[in-house]
Amino acid sequence: MSGNLPFKGKIALVTGSGRGIGAAIALHFARNGADIVINFFRNRAPAEAIVREVEALGRRTLLVKADLGNIENINQLMDEAERRFGGLDILVNNAASGYNHPAMQQKPKGWDWTMNINARSVLFTAQRAVPLMVKRGGGSIVSITSPGSSRVMPDYVVVGASKAALESLTRYLAVELAPQNINVNAVSPGLVETDALKHFNSLAEGNIIQNAARSTPAGRLVTPEDVAGVVAFLCTPAAGMIRGQVIVVDGGYTLLPK
Ligand SMILES: NC(=O)c1ccc[n+]([C@@H]2O[C@H](COP(=O)([O-])OP(=O)(O)OC[C@H]3O[C@@H](n4cnc5c(N)ncnc54)[C@H](OP(=O)(O)O)[C@@H]3O)[C@@H](O)[C@H]2O)c1
Repeated sequence: MSGNLPFKGKIALVTGSGRGIGAAIALHFARNGADIVINFFRNRAPAEAIVREVEALGRRTLLVKADLGNIENINQLMDEAERRFGGLDILVNNAASGYNHPAMQQKPKGWDWTMNINARSVLFTAQRAVPLMVKRGGGSIVSITSPGSSRVMPDYVVVGASKAALESLTRYLAVELAPQNINVNAVSPGLVETDALKHFNSLAEGNIIQNAARSTPAGRLVTPEDVAGVVAFLCTPAAGMIRGQVIVVDGGYTLLPK
């Protein structure tokens, strides 16, 4: 830890960091000293805006277009990160996608798409990230999951299964990578106040944000910065004895009967 910048000199790769929660995580690490590998898939313009924000903080960046559902793309992302920075300290598996339909309407294509992006990528990014972390004496892997891994949410069956797989991978990797000084955990946010949610809120008849906030003991929705703060904490020495856990960040929402 150095002064007020706990991640000074560290290199962090955040998947799906061109927008949403991933962008907040990337900016949090950058504000706290880290150089950042920013990854996008479909939306280049917001990702370029995040690159400019990170560079304005005086940090180095690398912007890589890669589909995390594609193994060759994962290898290209890691190759480029290695060429640019030579190693890696932090990997955040944030990118997610999904086919939202009832179970009886799901098709193999939607299963493969969702599982490959949300779950398979966690295993194969780890295979490539670990040697880069070993070069730096260790590292941290944090993956973003959701309550749908264990609770039943409408049309969420395939994403829920992919998040359950992500959580299981978190436990297996935590044990296998512990001897290499690599710490592996997951963060499970509740409903997060993103731009998309604010947009839906402005179109909806009731106030979705106010209603959700009322059902949350903490009295407000989770923000992307709340998630980023916990992800970052899990990458500090203070979290060194937290291994293979799923940390819920939902203001107490899932504690109450609904
Ligand atoms: N929002 C919530 O309320 C909430 C609650 C619980 C958990 N989560 C989890 O938090 C994470 C981020 O959520 P979010 O709400 O910020 O998501 P989002 O707004 O839907 O953004 C998805 C992100 O993933 C990237 N992505 C999608 N498919 C990709 C692919 N094949 N390869 C690489 N990147 C890909 C997108 O990049 P492009 O736009 O460039 O394609 C984008 O940056 C996800 O893991 C999600 O499951 C969110």
